[in-house]
Amino acid sequence: MGTAKGARRTSSAAAGAGAGASSRVPLVRSHGTDAGRVIGKSSDECYTPAEFVRLARDVLGVIDLDPASSAQAQAVVRAGRYFDKERNGLKRKWRGRVWLNCPYSAPAPWVGALLAHYQSGAVSAAVALFNSRTGSRWFHELAGVAWRCEARKRIRFYGPGTSGGNGMLDQVFFYLGDNPARFSAVFSAVGRIVAPSVTQAVTGARPCVVCGRALAGLRRDAETCSSRCRQSRYRRGSS
Ligand SMILES: C[S@@+](CC[C@H](N)C(=O)[O-])C[C@H]1O[C@@H](n2cnc3c(N)ncnc32)[C@H](O)[C@@H]1O
Repeated sequence: MGTAKGARRTSSAAAGAGAGASSRVPLVRSHGTDAGRVIGKSSDECYTPAEFVRLARDVLGVIDLDPASSAQAQAVVRAGRYFDKERNGLKRKWRGRVWLNCPYSAPAPWVGALLAHYQSGAVSAAVALFNSRTGSRWFHELAGVAWRCEARKRIRFYGPGTSGGNGMLDQVFFYLGDNPARFSAVFSAVGRIVAPSVTQAVTGARPCVVCGRALAGLRRDAETCSSRCRQSRYRRGSS
């Protein structure tokens, strides 16, 4: 059973992933996967090497929560709190700065939970690592609002779900938060940085620093798209 310091304190805070989330951008609602199901594929036990966790910590400052983890992975991630299979991170409330590398067998509900908690303001920033599944709906929902780094080299994961190789798939890191410049500076060492889709590439507009929506039509110095995002940014900055 996985609990880092303080993890058990969260047991009463078991909120559904979408609870309290606003609908500022489309959420991943349904991909035919039960968000409450605990998945147990051995291929899910692929842990992140320390060099990449270090970069995420460099961007976030500190990792408050790793919602999909294990005791072994925590030796490297060292999050303030973590959830494992038994505690089921999909049924918990997420808070603070999040590192996410979730089970590879079913990423969609984790993307939904991440966006819901971010949009509600409970998660202030996140770095999330996925296989680069550009044909998946969840990938595009995240790519619409999050900055990303397309890794130049495949990651050599460790743990009981790996055989020491670096697999057949490429990886991508996503960033949600109000400091994409920091993410870009740190992760450009790993791969190509891509802005949230549509916003810059198509409209030429900068994205809202909170939700990623295009700032088209707003003042040149605007950084947020709405009063809700302004307040959300203010709350994060002052907490
Ligand atoms: C890909 S590994 C990554 C582990 C760690 N986050 C890291 O970056 O090294 C995904 C982990 O999520 C765990 N897991 C699977 N289902 C889970 C659930 N419902 N809640 C929390 N953790 C879960 C798996 O057991 C596995 O240890």
